[in-house]
Amino acid sequence: MRQNLLLCAVILTAGIAVMLSGCGNGKQEADKPLSGVDNETIQTIMSRKSVRAFTDEPIPAAYMETMLKAAMAAPTGSNIQPWHFVVLTDKSKYEKVFENNFNMRIFNSAAAVVVFCADTTVTRPPRDNPDGAPVTRPNGTWRDDLGACTENFLLAAESLGLGSVWTAAYPYSERYASMKRELGLPATVLPYCAVAVGWPANDEQPKNKWKPERIHYERW
Ligand SMILES: Cc1cc2nc3c(=O)[nH]c(=O)nc-3n(C[C@H](O)[C@H](O)[C@H](O)COP(=O)(O)O)c2cc1C
Repeated sequence: MRQNLLLCAVILTAGIAVMLSGCGNGKQEADKPLSGVDNETIQTIMSRKSVRAFTDEPIPAAYMETMLKAAMAAPTGSNIQPWHFVVLTDKSKYEKVFENNFNMRIFNSAAAVVVFCADTTVTRPPRDNPDGAPVTRPNGTWRDDLGACTENFLLAAESLGLGSVWTAAYPYSERYASMKRELGLPATVLPYCAVAVGWPANDEQPKNKWKPERIHYERW
């Protein structure tokens, strides 16, 4: 009798173990490819493309805020967060703001143009003397910081069904001088880029840029 009970317990335990393994890793591997290509975030990254023609539909204010929140979630050197944003929708000002800018047709089509700006200086107490007077020095990573921030914004736009295109400002003074002047930026703040954003007028598709030959393992 005791032997029968023991045998039953062993069989039951083995059965539960088989069931659990079916719901666990083994099953997960069958449903979700290990490459992660079906992941929603990866899909958004792979779907992003530059959009340069838009419908007349405006962008809901909450969408703009969400995209800016995503932008400000980007990493920055020493967590300095040097960014400022100027959101433009008044096209009557574009002639002056974007003087000599060959992207004017795109800006005029877009529901909004966001000028991504960077404070190129960092002000904080010296590291070795936290109680000392604040020191202002050049911020060595502002371009990297703004690049990460801009890409976050583009990805958020893609994810919300909006289209966008990154257009360079810095380092082209012939492009950023009029932005800096007309938008009233402080002396240490520079326009980094201008992103046109709106509802896509056409059905642009992402480019395939996958080049496995560009990947070098351990050594070139
Ligand atoms: C730094 C930078 C500057 C760019 N400047 C412009 C620009 O002035 N005008 C424009 O139409 N696109 C501009 N682009 C968009 C690129 O042309 C575009 O990203 C590239 O052709 C790849 O296409 P995709 O964005 O659809 O993947 C810029 C992109 C980057 C990253």
